[in-house]
Amino acid sequence: MRARLLAGCVFIAGMSAIGAQAQDTSFGQRVYQDKADCKFCHGPEADGRGDPRSPGAAPNLHKTILDKAQAIEVIACGRPGTEMPHFDKYAYDDDTPCYGMKEKDVGKDKPPDPHSTPLTKREIEAVVDYLIATFVGK
Ligand code: HEC
Repeated sequence: MRARLLAGCVFIAGMSAIGAQAQDTSFGQRVYQDKADCKFCHGPEADGRGDPRSPGAAPNLHKTILDKAQAIEVIACGRPGTEMPHFDKYAYDDDTPCYGMKEKDVGKDKPPDPHSTPLTKREIEAVVDYLIATFVGK
């Protein structure tokens, strides 16, 4: 009886480990490819080959060396002085400074609003999980 119970526990533990590996990134995929239209600049394969009408210079994300937290920050805050938009609607507000900067500090270098739509924190995290699982380092 005891052994059986133990075997059951091991089985359940094993299943949840498998579940953690085969992460479902379909939500993040929809954010990247559709809702936020990241592909317009970075390309559907995230290799930097975006739409010819995009401003260009969007990097190949397979080669990024950013970790998860850094990627989240870049997407929420954009990159000052570049075409990378800020997807957090409140970025650079007094309560949500970015890279230690508020509106008055970033000035005219404030990254543009997205041409698509702002994203929630949850959507930004999901898009980063999708990038890491699908493209980064591959
Ligand atoms: C209007 C074009 C445009 C759109 C839309 C856009 N990006 Fe970017 N992105 C850029 C550019 C340009 C850079 C490079 C900025 C720089 O020179 O530092 C960049 C940089 C990045 C970086 C930093 C890469 C690195 O290694 O430094 C990440 C991550 C990123 N973008 C993800 C995204 C995601 C995810 C989306 C959608 C939610 C998105 N981008 C939408 C143009 C865009």
